[in-house]
Amino acid sequence: MVAADAPRDVPGNRPSHAKPLELPKTRSRAYSSHGGAYYVGDSAKLLTSRAFSGLKGRVQLLVTSPPYPLNEKKSYGNLTGGEYLRWMESLAPVFSDLLTDDGSIVIEVGNSWEPNRPVQSLLALEALLAFTKAKGANLRLVQQFVCYNPSRLPSPASWVTVKPMRTVDSFTHVWWLAKTDTPKADNRKVLRPYSKAMRDLLKRGAYNAGRRPSEHAVSETGFLNDRGGSIAHSLFELEPLEAHREVRLPNAFSFSNTASKDFFHAACKERGIVPHPARMPLGLASFFIEFLTDAGDLVLDPFGGSNTTGYAAALANRRWVAIDAQEDYVEQSKLRFFDPQLKKNSKP
Ligand SMILES: C[S@@+](CC[C@H](N)C(=O)[O-])C[C@H]1O[C@@H](n2cnc3c(N)ncnc32)[C@H](O)[C@@H]1O
Repeated sequence: MVAADAPRDVPGNRPSHAKPLELPKTRSRAYSSHGGAYYVGDSAKLLTSRAFSGLKGRVQLLVTSPPYPLNEKKSYGNLTGGEYLRWMESLAPVFSDLLTDDGSIVIEVGNSWEPNRPVQSLLALEALLAFTKAKGANLRLVQQFVCYNPSRLPSPASWVTVKPMRTVDSFTHVWWLAKTDTPKADNRKVLRPYSKAMRDLLKRGAYNAGRRPSEHAVSETGFLNDRGGSIAHSLFELEPLEAHREVRLPNAFSFSNTASKDFFHAACKERGIVPHPARMPLGLASFFIEFLTDAGDLVLDPFGGSNTTGYAAALANRRWVAIDAQEDYVEQSKLRFFDPQLKKNSKP
C-alpha cells in the first residue's frame, strides 16, 4: 500500500486549485493509497469536523450511492420514511459547502415500495426534492440519469412473482446537482464510439438532408463532421439488452466492469471476504469522474463502502476521499488498490 498525498502534476489538465491539498491525518483514517484516503465514521460528523475543514471548497465531484430509502432495514443500516428525508435534507448544505464553485454532486438512489402494498413509495422523489431545496445548499438539478439493470432479479417479489401484478423494478435514479447552472463538464471526454451506421455514413460522406417528421431540419453536412464519437446519453445500461448488439461505452457498462470485477471478486474470495452487497457500478463512477473532473481534482464519496469511487478516481489520476460508517468494509476496499490494472494506469 502506498501513502501518497501529494497531488500529481499531469500536463494538459487543469486541477481546480493550485494550492496543495492535504488530506486529514486523523485517527479515523483507515488507509491512504494512490492520491486518496479512506476514513471510518459518520460522514456528516467527519465532514463538519475541524480536521476536515481543509476540504471546504476543494471537492470537484461528490459521487455517491447513499443508503437507499428502504422499508426494511438492511445490514448496512438504512433510515426509513420521514427520518430518511430529514437526514438527506441535512446532508445537502454539508456537501454543498465542500464543493468548488463549479463542482458537482452525483447521487445514485434506487426505488422503494410501500410496505405490504403493490405501490411504489414516493420517498426517492421526495428525497431528491428535500436535498435539492435544502436551505443553505443552493443546489439545482443539472440533469437526471437512469441506470438500467437488465439482469436485476424480479422484485418486489410479492408483486412480481408471487402475484404477477407489477413488472421488475430494474433501474436506479442518478441525479446530477450543482451550485451553479454551469458546473465544470465536458461531454467530449465521455464520447461513445460511433455506431456502425454512423461510421458508414462518415465513410460515404453523404446522407438524406431535409426536414424529418420530428420537425428537425437536417442540413447537408451537419452529420459529416467526424467528432471522434457520439455524445453520451442520459441512460446507462449495466449489460447489453441484446447479446449481439453493438455495445458502446460509456453508456453500456458490461465490458468496462469485467476486469475490475474479476480482480476485486477474486481477491475477496481468496480471503473469504463477502463483497459489499450494494456496490456502485464501476462504469457509473468512472463516467462522472471523466465527464465532470480533470486529473488532479478531488473526488469524494461520503458513503464509500467497498470504495468503487476511490478506485475509479485512482484509475483516472484524480485525488479521492472515501468515508464509511462501517469498519467492516475497510479490508475489501483496500484490496482494490492491488489491482494490476491500476498500477499500469496510475502513478502512485
Ligand atoms: C449503498 S452503500 C455504498 C456502496 C459503495 N458505493 C460501493 O460501491 O461499495 C452505502 C454505504 O453507506 C454507508 N453508510 C450508511 N450510513 C452512513 C453514514 N452516516 N456515514 C457514513 N457511511 C454510512 C453504509 O455502511 C454503506 O456501506
